[in-house]
Amino acid sequence: MADVDDRFAFPSTGLPSRRVHVITYGCQMNVFDTRRMLQVLRPLGYEETDDMTMADLILLNTCSVREKPEQKVIGTITRLKPLKEARPGLVLGIGGCVGQQHGKALLDRLPYLDLVFGPDNIRDLPDMLASVEKGRQVGNTRRMKRKDYEFVAVEARAEAGPTAFLTIIKGCDKVCAFCIVPHVRGREISKPPDQVVHEVEALVARGVREVTLLGQNVNSYGKDRPSEGDFADLLARVSAVPGLARLRFVTSHPADADRRMMECFRRLPNLAEYLHLPIQSASDTVLKRMRRGYTVAEYLLKIEMARDACPDIALSTDFIVGFPGETREDFDRSMALIEKVRFDIIFSFKYSPRPRTRAVRMEDDVPENEKADRLQALQDLQDRIMVSRMERFLGRVEEVLVEGASRARDFEWMGRTRTNRVVNFPTSPAGAVKPGDLVGVRIEEVKAHSLRGRVEEDAGL
Ligand code: SAH
Ligand code: F3S
Repeated sequence: MADVDDRFAFPSTGLPSRRVHVITYGCQMNVFDTRRMLQVLRPLGYEETDDMTMADLILLNTCSVREKPEQKVIGTITRLKPLKEARPGLVLGIGGCVGQQHGKALLDRLPYLDLVFGPDNIRDLPDMLASVEKGRQVGNTRRMKRKDYEFVAVEARAEAGPTAFLTIIKGCDKVCAFCIVPHVRGREISKPPDQVVHEVEALVARGVREVTLLGQNVNSYGKDRPSEGDFADLLARVSAVPGLARLRFVTSHPADADRRMMECFRRLPNLAEYLHLPIQSASDTVLKRMRRGYTVAEYLLKIEMARDACPDIALSTDFIVGFPGETREDFDRSMALIEKVRFDIIFSFKYSPRPRTRAVRMEDDVPENEKADRLQALQDLQDRIMVSRMERFLGRVEEVLVEGASRARDFEWMGRTRTNRVVNFPTSPAGAVKPGDLVGVRIEEVKAHSLRGRVEEDAGL
């Protein structure tokens, strides 16, 4: 039997042990998808390894939202070529958004690549690998119709640590002019609410204390399942799962984030006080060309709603600088809004033209050095605001969910406040604290991007 699949060749020892290494780029949804990849590979005998030189399979889970991360993927795969030449049995694959964007063209361009697949094809990995083992190059970027689409069911044991991401809606139905995401991630499809609740229950039973619900636009959740409730209904159901200490969600779209959702911050005790609401620009003309579907005044109303429901809420946003046609005045409006709103965190990017988008047909007319100057000015302003936003924690006792050892110093723990701020604190009293605990930490110091403090014994948590 020449072509016996060696997965079944050693019945007495079970499945052969093989090693997989996944390199993850991009957003939290990719982090979640990586865990699903590992999950569907486990029944084939694949164990995760941190050491790519030991791996039998290396997968790149990729991001194509800007040109830079896309180039990084090509750079990494090129550097893996010698490894493949040294060990021809090594399987190399590109998954995620770059895989979806370029599809089989990547296989032609990179003949040593075995596998290309998109975000919707994770569940087909076993079949794809079986074809690769037969010596084929495999490209699978098939899209499924909404009625046929099935999410890979989350296995709680695939998670490690007290926090977990959970995708509740895939794709995006918006048409933001700069954005490639709808072109690579497809239309919105909501995970059935019963499945979401069931998965959260399983995660909590496994020791997870904090769940972050994920979607490109979580506010659209349920629009394709109108009889089963909307996002606010889902938040209420998930929040009621016994033992769930904290609930978070990301990302909200300003046009769709409604009062019902904002009120959840007041109503649901374990919904953590943190809201990411990307604005992109504070010029109405730019927003219009971006096709974002709201004005600056409407955005500010949403911020007011959030602060009204929860005065201490931490707010973060995204800005793009140098979108086609953005004048110095447009940019100054963004700067003025930043001063006015005082966000806790801003993620800011230089505009990067992306294929298939509407904006790629507009002239990319802001020179590169001007984009760089605007980005620098925005980040300098935000750095100042961020420090003063963090100073409000000084002297306060914050509820911190302990996540694990601090990366900054030995003998320290790292955790996060409800407002999503990293806090480092000494491990004393010895042995009293462990990952997954909620502890009260008195904040004693504000660092550039984190807080430091000391456990308060009688914080009453
Ligand atoms: N709704 C999504 C947005 C995904 S893209 C979410 O879950 O956050 C994340 C951010 O990347 C966007 O908010 C935007 O600020 C930035 N971005 C997207 N396309 C871009 C482009 N072509 N150039 C620069 N930045 C971009
Ligand atoms: Fe992109 Fe806009 Fe959707 S930023 S992911 S098209 S909401």
